[in-house]
Amino acid sequence: MKRSEINRYIEEADAFFVSNGFLLPPFAHWSPEDWRRHGSDAAELRSVRLGWDVTDFHSGNFHSVGLTLFTLRNGSPASPRPAKIYAEKIMFVREGQVTPSHYHISKTEDIINRGGKGTGRLALQLYNSDEGGGFASTPISVFCDGIERRLDPGATTTLGPGESITLTPRLYHTFYAVEGDCLVGEVSSLNDDATDNYFKDPLPRYPAIVEDEPATRLLCNEYPIP
Ligand SMILES: [Fe+2]
Repeated sequence: MKRSEINRYIEEADAFFVSNGFLLPPFAHWSPEDWRRHGSDAAELRSVRLGWDVTDFHSGNFHSVGLTLFTLRNGSPASPRPAKIYAEKIMFVREGQVTPSHYHISKTEDIINRGGKGTGRLALQLYNSDEGGGFASTPISVFCDGIERRLDPGATTTLGPGESITLTPRLYHTFYAVEGDCLVGEVSSLNDDATDNYFKDPLPRYPAIVEDEPATRLLCNEYPIP
């Protein structure tokens, strides 16, 4: 991805969040210089990778396969007794923009359509994983806001504004927005993007970046070490 695209996608996501009444914390707007100026006071942000995350999953086509996220809170998966045992993200899922099929070994996550009137629905295609890490042909049981949905393997279920789904470990999920862009929340157990994402087709999690202009904001894996 080009840095100019990442700059633009962050600006567009921030505007989308604000238009939906979802305001980000101050460090969302720090410049690279701000990150350099903050020292040990910002150690938590660096160590658990809070902040912006824009990726095309190495697809080369961000609008078809990609995602813009902001991690608001997270604990340290490396700590034996983390002070926080939960994580939260907010995501801008564009209409038709796919996050590739993956599961987690540790993380249980609630995915929430936080959009308002006039925003999209979130479609999720689900499979149980089999012993070899492939798609299982077994039926699926998931809970959406406490109500069970029983689905055939590979079925797609959708979340309207206000609805959520609980994704348990080893449940494959791919998602995209339909009928408009979608404001998507994630509330979960600890998040470790470095080790806990198992993609059906193995993918680097973070994009390769072509530096065609200066970064206006840094991504969560780019913070300078003071
Ligand atoms: Fe996930």
